[in-house]
Amino acid sequence: MKKLFIIANWKSNKTEPEAKDWLQRFKIQDLRFKNKKVIVCSSFTLLHEMKSLITNYQLPITLGAQNISPFDGGSYTGEVSARQIKEFADYVIIGHSERKTYFNETDEMINRKIEMALKYDLIPILCVLDIGQMPNSKIIVAYEPLFAVGSGNPDTPENADNIALGIKKTIGEISVLYGGSVTSKNAKDFTQMPNIDGVLVGSASLDPLEFSKIIEVA
Ligand code: PGA
Repeated sequence: MKKLFIIANWKSNKTEPEAKDWLQRFKIQDLRFKNKKVIVCSSFTLLHEMKSLITNYQLPITLGAQNISPFDGGSYTGEVSARQIKEFADYVIIGHSERKTYFNETDEMINRKIEMALKYDLIPILCVLDIGQMPNSKIIVAYEPLFAVGSGNPDTPENADNIALGIKKTIGEISVLYGGSVTSKNAKDFTQMPNIDGVLVGSASLDPLEFSKIIEVA
């Protein structure tokens, strides 16, 4: 049985009470015997409280951040460095298409962010639009075609699987996920493909019951 990553990307959503409510309503208690790794990528402001609640409630969830500074610590107002994130999280999303669209993130910045993550032992979840240029390092890659993100119009499992295969041929045996309009209705269609190792879920991850269902069916 292959190892599956089921990753929630909450984007700029949820306050502390809302995050607490989500964790209380999250249904999955025990994934020890299932081959599924659940990661929730929340805003920086929630990481501290999420970490303590996940421990208190003994939830099988690992934390991730959604962005990282391209610089090491220092005089970079407003940035959060890899070393700071590592206090709370083990994963970090890098290069999401929304960061390219709204914050002009370049490939050079993305490469620096990957370097920073790896320096402080954070596992990068690198979002890509197609096969293209790939860094040759220990990362997770999420194929997220632009048309599918937030649109309710996912790619076909067959095409996503082909891209995942292409990525694996380029970088080697890494985990490749699919992201873009994943719901509990289509998650299994993607995870059952031979080259897809999980899903990155945006909107559908905001509802704890829907996200729990995605984990169950995947
Ligand atoms: P979506 O977002 O599931 O809402 O399409 C996916 C993502 O942006 O990672």
